[in-house]
Amino acid sequence: MPLETTANIWHNGQLIPWEKAQIHVMSHVVHYGSSVFEGIRCYAQDGGAGVFRLSEHMQRLIHSAKIYRMPLPYSLEQLNEAVVEVVEANGVTPCYIRPIAFRGYGEIGVNPLKSPVEVYIANFPWGKYVSGNNGADVCVSSWNRLAPNTMPSLAKAGANYMNSQLIRMEADVNGYVEGIALDTNGYLSEGSGENLFIVQNGVLYTSPLANSVLNGITRDSILVLARQLGIPVVEQALPRELLYICDEAFFTGTAAEVTHLRSVDRILVGDGNMGPVTSALHKAFFDIVSGAAPDRYNWLTPVKVRETVTA
Ligand SMILES: Cc1ncc(COP(=O)(O)O)c(C=O)c1O
Repeated sequence: MPLETTANIWHNGQLIPWEKAQIHVMSHVVHYGSSVFEGIRCYAQDGGAGVFRLSEHMQRLIHSAKIYRMPLPYSLEQLNEAVVEVVEANGVTPCYIRPIAFRGYGEIGVNPLKSPVEVYIANFPWGKYVSGNNGADVCVSSWNRLAPNTMPSLAKAGANYMNSQLIRMEADVNGYVEGIALDTNGYLSEGSGENLFIVQNGVLYTSPLANSVLNGITRDSILVLARQLGIPVVEQALPRELLYICDEAFFTGTAAEVTHLRSVDRILVGDGNMGPVTSALHKAFFDIVSGAAPDRYNWLTPVKVRETVTA
C-alpha cells in the first residue's frame, strides 16, 4: 500500500522534516540488513488517542538491539518520550509508528561494530493489513521459518523479513492473503508478520517461543485477555494438520490486530465464520484499544493530537 507521509521524523534526538530523513547508499544496513525495528499502533479513542503497549514495544527494540550488539544511546524512557513527541508533532491519529535502529555510514565489511547506530521514529496513517473482512484465506508456506541458532526469531530484525517476504510473496502469487510457515521441525510457527492461534474444543493454543516465533505483543495481549475471560490457554508445539480440523484459527499482530482465518489451503476453518472464542477475544481487544472498555492493564499511553484521520 502507498505510504502516506507526515511532517516530521524523529532522528537521533530531534525532529527533522520527513523528506530529509535519508541515508547514504553505502550505509552498512543497505548491504548487510543490519537493522532492528518496531511496529506500533496508536488508536483513537473518544476525545483522545493512545499508543498501544508503547513500553513493551520499545523494550523489545532494546532487546533486539542487544542481541545484535547494537548500542542504543537512549533509555527506555527516552525512547517512549520520543514516540510521544513525534506522534504529537505530526498530529495524525490513528496511526502506525515505525521506530528503527540500524548501522549507518562508516565502514564497509560484514562486521558492523564500527559503523554508527542511527535511530529514527516515523509515524503515518495505516489501515487494515491482512485483507478480507470476512476472514483471511491463507496457505501453509513451502518456506520454513528461521531455523534456531541462525537468525534469532526473538529479535525483530529487518533481515528476518527476507524470510517473511518469501512467505508473503508465495502466498500472494498463489492467490492467498497470507502464508503460515512451519518451523524447521515441521511444527506450526507463524505468519510472515503475525502470530498464530488455534481454538479446539474451547481451548486456545499457540506455538511457544521455541517454534521460531516473534514474541508478539498482541500475542501476549490475547493471552492476558484469554485468561481474564477464563479461556484455557496452552502453549505447545502444534502439528500442521491441526489447522485443517480445528474449530477456529486467527492471526494476531500490530498490523493484523486480530484477524480470523476463513480457510487454510482452501480447507474451511470450522464453518469459515469467526467463531465464539475468536469473537470474544476480538471484542475484548478492540474494546480496550477503542476506549469502549476501561484500560485495566494500562496498555494505552495517551498522546495529544490535533487531527483524526478516517481509515
Ligand atoms: C514475524 C512476526 N511475527 C509476529 C508479529 C506480531 O507481533 P506484534 O503483536 O508484537 O506486532 C509480527 C509483527 O510485528 C511479526 O513481524
